[in-house]
Amino acid sequence: MKFLNIYHFPLYYDIAFQYRDIPLECDFIELMLEKQAKTENRLILDIACGSGMHIVELGRRGYTMHGFDLSPEMIDFSTKKCKEIGLSPLLWVDDMRNFTPRGSYGMAINMLTTFNYLTDNDDIVAHLRRVAEALSPGGIYLIELHHPRDFSDLSASVAQEWMESRGDITVECSFDYQPEATDPITQIRRNKVRFEVTEGEVKKVFEEEQEVRVVLFQEFNLFLEFEGSFELVAANGAFREEQPLDNSEDSWRMILTLRKKL
Ligand SMILES: C[S@@+](CC[C@H](N)C(=O)[O-])C[C@H]1O[C@@H](n2cnc3c(N)ncnc32)[C@H](O)[C@@H]1O
Repeated sequence: MKFLNIYHFPLYYDIAFQYRDIPLECDFIELMLEKQAKTENRLILDIACGSGMHIVELGRRGYTMHGFDLSPEMIDFSTKKCKEIGLSPLLWVDDMRNFTPRGSYGMAINMLTTFNYLTDNDDIVAHLRRVAEALSPGGIYLIELHHPRDFSDLSASVAQEWMESRGDITVECSFDYQPEATDPITQIRRNKVRFEVTEGEVKKVFEEEQEVRVVLFQEFNLFLEFEGSFELVAANGAFREEQPLDNSEDSWRMILTLRKKL
C-alpha cells in the first residue's frame, strides 16, 4: 500500500474535497443504518476519517462518533475542527489493515474509495475481519468504492480535474490522471495525483503516484463469502436509495452496505 503525501496536509485536502455534498451522503448513511441495522447500537466508527467531514456532520446530528486515520495530521485537524464547534469524538491514529477498535459499533463507514487502497487479498480479508469484530451483531458496514467502470476502457465516472478555494488558498487538483493499464496479475492500477496549492503569493505543488486496487462487484461478493461474517444488504450507484449499482451514468460509485450476521 502506497500512502499519499497530500494526506499529511489536511487543510489542502479539506479544501480540495469540499465540493462533496456531505449532508446528502450522511442522509444516505443514516437511512442505511435505520433501515438495515439489526441492532439498537448507534455508535458510529469512521474508518480512515481524513479531515473529519462525516464526523462533523454526523456529530452535529447527534451521533457519538469514533474515527481513525493513518495520518496524524488528519487526526489533529479533525480533532481541532470538532472542538471548535463543541464536538468531542474519539479520534486516533491507526491503520485500517490492522486497527484496534475503541468500542463496539452499530455502524462503520469507509468513504471516498479509501477501501481501494487495500491492495492485496490478505489486507482486504484482514480488514473485513477487523471490522466484523468491531461491530455488534446486526451492525452495518457502508463502503464507498470506485465504480468498476473506472477501471475499464469506458470513460471514468468522476471528474478528474477541478479547483476549489477557501480564503486566500486555492487548490487545483488532478486526480487519477495518466492511469497506466491495470496490472492483470496484481489488479493494481497506478495513476497520478497532482495538487497545485496557491496560498497568497506562495505556490506549492504536490505530484505523486497513487496505487489503487481494482475491486469488482462479483469479486467483492466472493471476499464476503470467504470471510464469512457479513451479508450484502444493498448495492447502490450513488448516495440515493433508488439508484442501484448498474451501468447507467447515474451510477457513478459502488456503494456497498454490509450487515454483520446475527
Ligand atoms: C480519500 S481520503 C478519504 C478521507 C475521508 N474518509 C473522507 O471521506 O473525506 C483517504 C484517507 O485514508 C487515509 N488512509 C490511507 N491509508 C490508510 C490506512 N491504511 N489506514 C487508515 N487510513 C488510511 C488517508 O490518510 C486519508 O485520510
